[in-house]
Amino acid sequence: MITIKGITKKYGNYTALDDISLHIASGEFVSLVGQSGTGKTTLVKLIIAEERPSKGEIIIGGWDITAIKSYEVPYLRRQIGVIFQDFKLLPKKTVYENVAFALESCGVAAATILKVVPQVLKIVGLDNKIDHYPWQLSGGEKQRVAIARALVHKPKLLIADEPTGNLDSINTKEIIDLLIKINEIGTTVLLVSHNRDVVNGLRRRVITVEEGKIISDQVKGRYVL
Ligand SMILES: Nc1ncnc2c1ncn2[C@@H]1O[C@H](COP(=O)(O)OP(=O)(O)O)[C@@H](O)[C@H]1O
Ligand SMILES: [Mg+2]
Repeated sequence: MITIKGITKKYGNYTALDDISLHIASGEFVSLVGQSGTGKTTLVKLIIAEERPSKGEIIIGGWDITAIKSYEVPYLRRQIGVIFQDFKLLPKKTVYENVAFALESCGVAAATILKVVPQVLKIVGLDNKIDHYPWQLSGGEKQRVAIARALVHKPKLLIADEPTGNLDSINTKEIIDLLIKINEIGTTVLLVSHNRDVVNGLRRRVITVEEGKIISDQVKGRYVL
């Protein structure tokens, strides 16, 4: 699903990622952990082609995106669902409209939108709140809207960059359980987190980065920092 070979990313003289190599197979649930400022989000940005590497190679689902053209980026983005700590919902749109908008902006046919939006809202358990606005939702519910929106193109890969960073422990558990469910229905999940309890509770593969380098990669890992 993801193959990264010898990736270095520099911002000016500053090396954010230093010769990173890793492979994530289809169907895996991988946690990427490490302290703040160690390059985790930079790696996410390279995978979704928001940034280009200074050196090395990135292959996503067999597609070498190392030197991807800007007009090809939207095609890549439809194959990768991404969620962030701050949800990034449109405040004046309802739950339904927030999710539908992700399809409308890609020119998807109205009939398909009518079918897909209820499907993904059901997966995330929000089919009873479709007319609510973001301000009427809890943090966990907002993140579930973001997850529904990330699933509209049926991506093979879901990247969650600190998805529980703004949530209390109950909402955190709810979101992690949902990510596990999404993984079980066949989506590869890359979870960026620095929540020790979350990562230890998963008992899945854990990749640890420190100062732009991978310092450990364990099959049933624990948070080592
Ligand atoms: N666009 C940028 N320009 C310059 N430096 C950046 C940029 N983006 C990130 N950095 C730096 O790269 C380092 C890694 O950042 P980031 O990948 O966001 O870390 P993390 O997600 O692990 O907290 C940080 O020191 C950050 O300041
Ligand atoms: Mg980050």
